[in-house]
Amino acid sequence: MPPAQLDFGYPWWLSYGHLILAAATVAVLLLGYARKWSKGPMLLAGIVALWSTAAFLVARFVIDVNGQPLLPTQSFLHLGTGRVLDMGAGTGRSSIMVLANRPQATLVALDLFGDSFEQHFGRSGTPKQRLLTNLKAAGVEQRAMIQAGDMRNLPFEAAAFDAIVSSYAIDHLNREGINQSLAEAARVLKPGGDFLLMVITKEPWIQFTFGPLLLHGGTRGSAWWTQRLQEAGFQVVEQGTRPITLYLLSRRG
Ligand SMILES: C[S@@+](CC[C@H](N)C(=O)[O-])C[C@H]1O[C@@H](n2cnc3c(N)ncnc32)[C@H](O)[C@@H]1O
Repeated sequence: MPPAQLDFGYPWWLSYGHLILAAATVAVLLLGYARKWSKGPMLLAGIVALWSTAAFLVARFVIDVNGQPLLPTQSFLHLGTGRVLDMGAGTGRSSIMVLANRPQATLVALDLFGDSFEQHFGRSGTPKQRLLTNLKAAGVEQRAMIQAGDMRNLPFEAAAFDAIVSSYAIDHLNREGINQSLAEAARVLKPGGDFLLMVITKEPWIQFTFGPLLLHGGTRGSAWWTQRLQEAGFQVVEQGTRPITLYLLSRRG
């Protein structure tokens, strides 16, 4: 049997939606050409066709929400080994990002597997099974454990993890939930442990591709997140942006 394919389950239109607009504007251009429209509307349709084609290429090949992401910094868990917690693991994209890049590490993939999961990934199959299928497809399931739980009230003892990752998850919570989750991360992380926080941010790729369409709570800036992390007892040691992503690597004091 061939190995199962990774299927992170983000909506298809995030990667392919611009193609519909591109096809529609090309059809308009052909119609305009056949009917000898004036330059103005033809130019406008041409610009929209060019932008939507370029935006499709960026969405599909640069942002690539359903592809396997690169670790944004090699400094995260640089010793390569340890027990990692993924807070808000979803269908496994961030868990696989860590396990594929840190082959000596083990990981607990925690998620509520509730309404928020369905909002992002739809209702097909059972959430835990979808996560497990992806972990198997990536060949990392033997180093991963799936755990249902709330990141605002983590079901772990203090200092239980060497490192924590959380990607596009904490930024879905309200202010109180963010503070609770960061405090919980500080509690279950060993002193000196790494915390890699990744949130959606307004950087040039996402602005070009989705413009004002993508309204997301996580579009707060790095100063805001740095302040929250410091209040929770973390020291930010590195930060930067990747397509659609602001990452902050911090250490527990
Ligand atoms: C956008 S997904 C991100 C999934 C994955 N980390 C990634 O990078 O693709 C956000 C996930 O956070 C989970 N989530 C939301 N609130 C949560 C909470 N309070 N505790 C645990 N998980 C939560 C949702 O169920 C969802 O699977």
